[in-house]
Amino acid sequence: MPALVIVGAQWGDEGKGKATDLLGSRIDYVVKFNGGNNAGHTVVIGDEKYALHLLPSGILTEGVVPVIGNGVVVDLEVLFEEIDGLEARGIDTSKLVISSNAHLIAPYHRTIDKVTERFLGKRQIGTTGRGIGPAYADKINRVGLRVQDLFDENILRQKVEGSLFQKNQLLVKVYNRRAITVDEIVAELLGYAERLRPLVTDTSLLLNRALDAGKHVLFEGGQATMLDVDHGTYPFVTSSSATAGGAVTGGGIGPGRIERVIAIVKAYTTRVGAGPFPTELFDEWGDFLVDNGQEFGTTTGRPRRTGWYDAPVARYASRINGVTDFVLTKLDVLTGIERIPVCVAYDVDGVRFDEMPASQSDFHHAKPIYQEFPGWTEDISAARTFDELPRNAQDYVLALERLSGARISAIGVGPARDAIVVRHDLVD
Ligand code: GDP
Ligand code: IMO
Ligand code: MG
Repeated sequence: MPALVIVGAQWGDEGKGKATDLLGSRIDYVVKFNGGNNAGHTVVIGDEKYALHLLPSGILTEGVVPVIGNGVVVDLEVLFEEIDGLEARGIDTSKLVISSNAHLIAPYHRTIDKVTERFLGKRQIGTTGRGIGPAYADKINRVGLRVQDLFDENILRQKVEGSLFQKNQLLVKVYNRRAITVDEIVAELLGYAERLRPLVTDTSLLLNRALDAGKHVLFEGGQATMLDVDHGTYPFVTSSSATAGGAVTGGGIGPGRIERVIAIVKAYTTRVGAGPFPTELFDEWGDFLVDNGQEFGTTTGRPRRTGWYDAPVARYASRINGVTDFVLTKLDVLTGIERIPVCVAYDVDGVRFDEMPASQSDFHHAKPIYQEFPGWTEDISAARTFDELPRNAQDYVLALERLSGARISAIGVGPARDAIVVRHDLVD
């Protein structure tokens, strides 16, 4: 039985949470494999709206085992706040398990994230300020703290000492901040140890055994292809592997286990934070997409930057992730636009690029070459089959399918759990 992966095809907020929730009832395990509480997934179930950050979206489906994999960075304060918040609303979180190898976000990671951004000035990345980059930097630098370190006070103290040694020099001498003491960090982290202990396990063993037993395991990526540290618009990216390969390293399974790679792609494009964005709109259509699509960050509340659909980005995502199926979301948001532009290629200083330029400087200079498609005015939010969509909406979807490198298997027509048109089954 297969492992499935869900990833974002653009710059995040494509509706991965809703897609994961949609598949929930047919899945046994949902694994978050990268990122941390920089993610923000809004899931609407009936009249209830849930905003998830650190917990896998599968936590909202009864019977699913939610897993925080080794590739995630965990802020323990946020973890327990989120668990308590869901429990208070009647969601059972008791099945949650966390990898003993996952890294921790310590308070100093958040401090460093914020001060370094401030000092970057014009070169700011616009991070979520959650300490994600500094926590991953420590992991790669081999001075990170892992979940399992909480259960051995001596080791924890040594590691915090090692990690703070350089950081305090930096905080005090470069950034003019107060030094952080080993004692305060150790005390804060140990305060969570006993509550954490029963949740911690070897998640790789658990997932491999589940796959051997024929269970369905869904790996849920945070962020997206264009924010991936290797494949995204570096340095305007997050610090983890948000593409399908990240599910292998961040989940602890072999690549051969993965049968389906489902990329979530919006019917237009959004981006939060700084960095290149060729189809970005600065006119009233940009505002139209913000208003109609309610494009405000789930994590930071920032209005998202908006633009038309970028087919070279979708094709790039298709190839980097080995996409088998796209879920096209928020088609309803485009209702009422007379002619819908779609970027089919770029003009870079007079040269046509049909695919993503290999050079980041070229991508910064890329001007979209648009093809226009006729729009529709009918309300499509009640459509549940492809045939129920207006002809022009169908043609728009088919055009994106031709341009994007993989079939479009489902189409989102509203925020609600059931507001979806399924063309091809996503779970075998
Ligand atoms: P994620 O980070 O990829 O999980 O996406 P977010 O939750 O940050 O942002 C997606 C937003 O779009 C959420 O507010 C969803 O409720 C909403 N959404 C998802 N699919 C659709 C859709 O098909 N139509 C509309 N109108 N909203 C959608
Ligand atoms: P979901 O999972 C959109 C962006 C930030 C910033 C950059 C680096 O909801 O799609 P970080 O705090 O990760 O170091 O910030 O990445 N970013 C996201 N943008 N959706 C997200 O997550 C994001 N997570 C990080 O805005 O530009
Ligand atoms: Mg989001």
